[in-house]
Order: sequence, then C-alpha cells, then structure tokens
Amino acid sequence: MKLISLVEILAQANQGRYAVGGFNINNLEFLQGIIGAAEELNSPLILQTSEGAMKYIGIDYVIGMVDAAVKNSPIPVALHLDHGSSFAVVMKCIRMGYSSVMFDGSHFPFEENIRLTKQVIEAAHAVGVSVEAELGKLGGTEDDLSVDEKDATFTDPEQAVEFVERTGVDALAVAIGTAHGVYKGKPELDFERLKTIKDKTNIPIVLHGASGLSDDDLKKAISLGVNKVNVNTDFQQVFAAKIREIFRNDRELYDPRKYCGPGRTAIKEKVMEKIRVLGSANQA
Ligand code: 13P
Repeated sequence: MKLISLVEILAQANQGRYAVGGFNINNLEFLQGIIGAAEELNSPLILQTSEGAMKYIGIDYVIGMVDAAVKNSPIPVALHLDHGSSFAVVMKCIRMGYSSVMFDGSHFPFEENIRLTKQVIEAAHAVGVSVEAELGKLGGTEDDLSVDEKDATFTDPEQAVEFVERTGVDALAVAIGTAHGVYKGKPELDFERLKTIKDKTNIPIVLHGASGLSDDDLKKAISLGVNKVNVNTDFQQVFAAKIREIFRNDRELYDPRKYCGPGRTAIKEKVMEKIRVLGSANQA
C-alpha cells in the first residue's frame, strides 16, 4: 500500500505553520468524500479509524478500501489508528499496514502513560511507523470512549516537555479546552497554554475534538503550533443531515445510492471547507 508516515506529513506542516486534517472514516462514503476533497485541493491527508470504526467496518475492509483509494492517488496519505487503547491493537494495525498509530494512555497516571507509550514507540519505530500520544484528558464522547467534563484535565506544559523527552513521541495530542463530540456550550480554548507547550516542545501538536470550533479558533490554534486537526462529528452531522433532508422530501426512497451518494458529496464539501481553514491546500 502506498502510504507515508505521519512524521513526513507533519514535519512539513510544522515548518510551514499549517495543519493537516486527521479525518475519521466511518464507511466507504466517508473515505471517498474525504480523499476526493483532499485530491481536489491538492492537500496531504491523514485518514484515521477509531477502534469503533474498525470494528464496524472490519479491519480487512479498511485496508482494502484504503488501498483502492490511495493506489493511484497523487497526494501523500497516512493511515492512522485513532485512540489506540492497547499495545495489542496497535500491533494489529501495524501488521495490517497502517503507517501511523496513536496510543492513548491519557487515562493512566503520568508515569504509567510514559511507560506504555514508550513500549508502543519502540515497537512502532522499529518498523518505520509513527506514533501520536496524548497527555491531559479531553472531555466528551467518541465511540465507546467517554470522559465526563468534570474529569477532563488540561495538559501541563512542564509534564509535556518531560513526556516528549522521555518517550521520543512524534506528535502530541493536548487538552486545552476542546472536547470530542457535540459541544454543550461555547468552547473556550486555553491558547496561552497551547503556545507555552509548543514553545517548550517544538513538536507537532494535535488538536482533538475540532468539530464545532469556529474557523477563527482553528486558525489561531494553528498559528500557535497545531499541525494535526482531528475532525469526525462535523462530517457525521453533514452526512446525517443530508440523508434526513432527502427522506423528508421522499419518504418512499429505498435505493441507498440515492441518499448515500448525496451524503458523500456533503462530506466532500465539508472536508474542502476544513482543508481551506487548516491551510493544507496545495501543500501535497
Ligand atoms: P470530533 O468528533 O469532536 O470532531 O473529534 C474527533 C477526534 O478528535 C478524533 O480523535
């Protein structure tokens, strides 16, 4: 499979001060909508699957679909595991051909997070696969992963420095006020904290839970050092909204191509919007 690692994509983004989308795929229409948008805008792309999506699609189908999508694609694409929860699932993805993985040890105490992340990094780097890790805890819900707002903790910049030095991680996901899923109120991001973390680590920073953020917030976060922006819910919402609208107008419709097709186009348009905000158009 013609995939490249996160390191290559994010090193360029870090230098050029832009961000690349870590866009989640949930089915074939998501994959086609997302890669179609990135190709049209000549943007590098990080396709990612959560463990829930992998279970839903089946890992063999993920690999088969992504292989078909990237085989003749002119843009650089990474296939990334989102929120890997164990060494075992990371190894499975690497063996199947993922070029990049996230190990999310953010629920463990600091020392345990370092120990587990290091284990993953040693194995992944040995075979040229890049690793994203998380420090601090995001609120909200993604698949089976749910963190109550009151249990969310922001990333400590001093700990971030120690974490990056001791693990040798390739990209760091930080908690600065974003949340997975749909926001309950207006998100308030701690830009000062983000700037401090970037200045002290100079590593590609990953922003999770980017759905529902304003373009201004996204642009500001990118100007302060975010290089990977994760989006899932926004695309799920436009897909569902388009299908709902179609069924409202035609309750008898049954051919999936006639509602999933327009759903796919809606995703593509939304992805193009995001890519323009992230600044990765024409960076392929
Ligand atoms: P959203 O679903 O809130 O966009 O978050 C996606 C994400 O962070 C994936 O890791």
